[in-house]
Amino acid sequence: MLFHHLGIATKDIEKTKQDYLNIGYRESLSVFDPIQNVKLLFLVKDNSPLIELVSPIDEDSPVNQIIKKNGTTPYHICFEVDDLDQSLKELKKQRYIEIVKPVPAVAFNNRLVCFLYKPSMGLVELLSSKS
Ligand code: NI
Repeated sequence: MLFHHLGIATKDIEKTKQDYLNIGYRESLSVFDPIQNVKLLFLVKDNSPLIELVSPIDEDSPVNQIIKKNGTTPYHICFEVDDLDQSLKELKKQRYIEIVKPVPAVAFNNRLVCFLYKPSMGLVELLSSKS
């Protein structure tokens, strides 16, 4: 499992983006993900982790719950894996709970992503390295 990005929930993607630009990040890909019902914006900086801003489209976006509870906050870490099914199996054995089954992610050329949760670890996203 290789670190891929840090997901940050925010209600105001423009304001949060500006805060990252102010500390040296550059704007990268911006997409609407109709499957997760969120707006995504990626921010990059040399020798720094990839940042994914996640913002709700409407009241039905699942990320609303996180923002209501914690405001703007990091809320998931994504790891890239070679074999998504195998990694999913292994993590379930380690008592991770599958929150979102594998779905194509528009931000990653429809490579599959899934979300798992474990209380001692928080929310983890897996991204398949293969399309
Ligand atoms: Ni993510």
